[in-house]
Amino acid sequence: MDVRDAVATRFSCRAFLPIPVPEHIVREILTLAARSPSAGNVQPWRVHALAGERLEALKALLRPRMAELPNGEGTEFPIFPHDMPDPYRQRRFAVGEQIYRSIGVRREDKPARYRQYARNFEFFGAPAGLFVSIERSFVLGQWIDLGSFIQTVMLLARDYGLHTCPQEAWASFHRTVAAFLSLPPDMMLFCGVALGYADDTAPINSWRTPRESLEAFADFSGFTG
Ligand SMILES: Cc1cc2nc3c(=O)[nH]c(=O)nc-3n(C[C@H](O)[C@H](O)[C@H](O)COP(=O)(O)O)c2cc1C
Repeated sequence: MDVRDAVATRFSCRAFLPIPVPEHIVREILTLAARSPSAGNVQPWRVHALAGERLEALKALLRPRMAELPNGEGTEFPIFPHDMPDPYRQRRFAVGEQIYRSIGVRREDKPARYRQYARNFEFFGAPAGLFVSIERSFVLGQWIDLGSFIQTVMLLARDYGLHTCPQEAWASFHRTVAAFLSLPPDMMLFCGVALGYADDTAPINSWRTPRESLEAFADFSGFTG
């Protein structure tokens, strides 16, 4: 698969087949992804890859925790600005609508919306999950490097026939996850990434998010060819 195909076919997959991902493939993906650039070559990423019984144990830990705290434990960093202006706010709203429409859940049906949200904490059925964390002392520059590392992981996954979903939802259960992973206190959980083989028959995987046109976000000047 070439890079263009990897970019074009990646999407946030929210239903996976129960087919295990071999450890050696996850190791290859992470080894290659570590070629991602980082300012000063600091390589600020830390990954915990989980599968099998270990993943099931985490999910089992989360279930009663979610019953106790449906909105989570609070996040350690802001995921969105408090007052996000349009068109950004509208785009965020639209993707939520698309998700629920695809599975036939009405906007007013809060319990059904919550059940879908809760699927985040099962990695949407993926047989493997990655947790990405970063040193607390790191600043914006390193967080951006983390983003490019995660994107590289997601594009490499495509070359192995795998799909992914980056999940900041996990940050809202950072205490439970950090304790489970024995994260040292100087490390902060950023997100989870579901990893596995897409269930192409699942309605939730049957649509794609739109993008703005090139003209909406890019200006060009000085080109001669
Ligand atoms: C850092 C990050 C965190 C995200 N967190 C979640 C999440 O917690 N749950 C979820 O279902 N999707 C999550 N997404 C997926 C976005 O909704 C998705 O990337 C966006 O709507 C564009 O769709 P696409 O990835 O299918 O192209 C996240 C994406 C990113 C980049």
